Amino acid sequence: MSTAQRSREVRFDTAARATFEDAFGKAHPAFAATAAVDELRATQYARLDERGDVYLDYTGGGLYAESQLEEHLALLRGSVLGNPHSVNPTSSASTALVESARAAVLAFFNASPDEYACIFTPNATGALRLVGESYPFGAGGRFLATFDNHNSVNGIREFARAKGAETTYVPLEAPDLRVADGLLEAYLTDVPAGGHKLFAFPAQSNFSGVKHPLDWVAAAQQRGWHVIVDAAAFVPTSALDLSTRHPDFVPVSFYKMFGYPTGVGALLARHDALEQLHRPWFSGGTVVTANVQGDLAVPLSGHALFEDGTVNYLNIPAVEVGLRHIDRIGLGTISRRVQALGTWLLGALQSLRHSDGSPATRVYGPKRWEGRGATVAFNFLHPDGRVVDERYVDVIAAAHRISVRTGCFCNSGAGETAFSVSRETLIGAEFGEGMILDDYIRLVGMPTGGAIRVSLGLVTNFADVYRFMGFAEEFCDLGAVPPDLPPRLAC
Ligand SMILES: Cc1ncc(COP(=O)(O)O)c(C=O)c1O
Repeated sequence: MSTAQRSREVRFDTAARATFEDAFGKAHPAFAATAAVDELRATQYARLDERGDVYLDYTGGGLYAESQLEEHLALLRGSVLGNPHSVNPTSSASTALVESARAAVLAFFNASPDEYACIFTPNATGALRLVGESYPFGAGGRFLATFDNHNSVNGIREFARAKGAETTYVPLEAPDLRVADGLLEAYLTDVPAGGHKLFAFPAQSNFSGVKHPLDWVAAAQQRGWHVIVDAAAFVPTSALDLSTRHPDFVPVSFYKMFGYPTGVGALLARHDALEQLHRPWFSGGTVVTANVQGDLAVPLSGHALFEDGTVNYLNIPAVEVGLRHIDRIGLGTISRRVQALGTWLLGALQSLRHSDGSPATRVYGPKRWEGRGATVAFNFLHPDGRVVDERYVDVIAAAHRISVRTGCFCNSGAGETAFSVSRETLIGAEFGEGMILDDYIRLVGMPTGGAIRVSLGLVTNFADVYRFMGFAEEFCDLGAVPPDLPPRLAC
């Protein structure tokens, strides 16, 4: 760090924390009302503070409480569980646990079993692939997606293309990275009649934290679209009520909500929408019967048609344990907590200045709390306005034991908008064999390999965001960064 920095006034040092925390508590009485979560953190998540970790990558993955592990382990220790594809006693025990978890998932999202099915998948990506590969795209059909989408949604365009349907993207407006008022309606309306139409958007952006309007669901359905609401980044800190909104398909990953188990997600799907899907194959678990001499394959229906092979029957019961854990804390409490901490962090980050008064950060997406969640994407800036290489940020963050995400977060479209990469910029940027991400960044002229993403969650406390700001302050008056940073291989 430079000499200039050493002479700067340090705002977020350890000694000043109590004063900041006191002022924060007074400014956010709703936060004080969530003190039970601080106690929970001290008992159930003690490993964080014991190890000195500042975990700020909740959009990447949530954290589990010790009680979740204990409850799950006790269940496994006290049971004999067999493959559910049978009727023997151990098989029936597994089936009962899986079906109980399925009912618990539907209840958690207030989804009536008469309206929705819960299909267990390996993760949100697996849920999206099920929809993409089975959707009846065809000539005259369309896949519509917002620029702001995870690549696991973008990948659906390959299924659309293979079946002759067109893909269209709804652009975002910088700097807020939202869709301009009225623009979506034009995209929903301006389509030829006939053909199956699928629209996908995230309830909350995993890049900018923007919460896109859930009113889009009904608006699209009224115009004949099926709608995927990608809720993977939304549901860890916000309530999704499927009795008031009725999207056709909702993918989620449970580890993002409560940390454990990994390897289990779900596709919540309306029964009437599921009936429109055509699976491209059959497998063990998805057929009533099949033969090899007569080319017969009689598909099962409902969730069974979409659960290939053996479901993750030992881990699925841990989903029910996790849902109970969240219910006990209350999603309202979690939302209020991350809102208070997120508002403080957003303001503090934007207030960082170099000694010459120039901004030390650039935040992508909404600068104020309204209509957003607790995911903040930004870059540090050098005093001359250049973006600080995110790989250097990784190095310094690791030295502080701070876990944040850097790069494009698998959200290409939001990244392109944030970094002003246009279609024209992309022309000629041919990605040849053997190239790595660094080559692509150079070709399209991006200022760096991506942004820094801070995301808050279940047990974030004031000390976490305060320690993060102490780290951020080190970038004020930053001189040159070392030239020997590791190459960027993939996003
Ligand atoms: C909005 C969104 N959708 C989909 C995914 C994919 O989730 P998974 O990697 O668990 O399949 C993510 C993961 O970060 C996400 O944030």
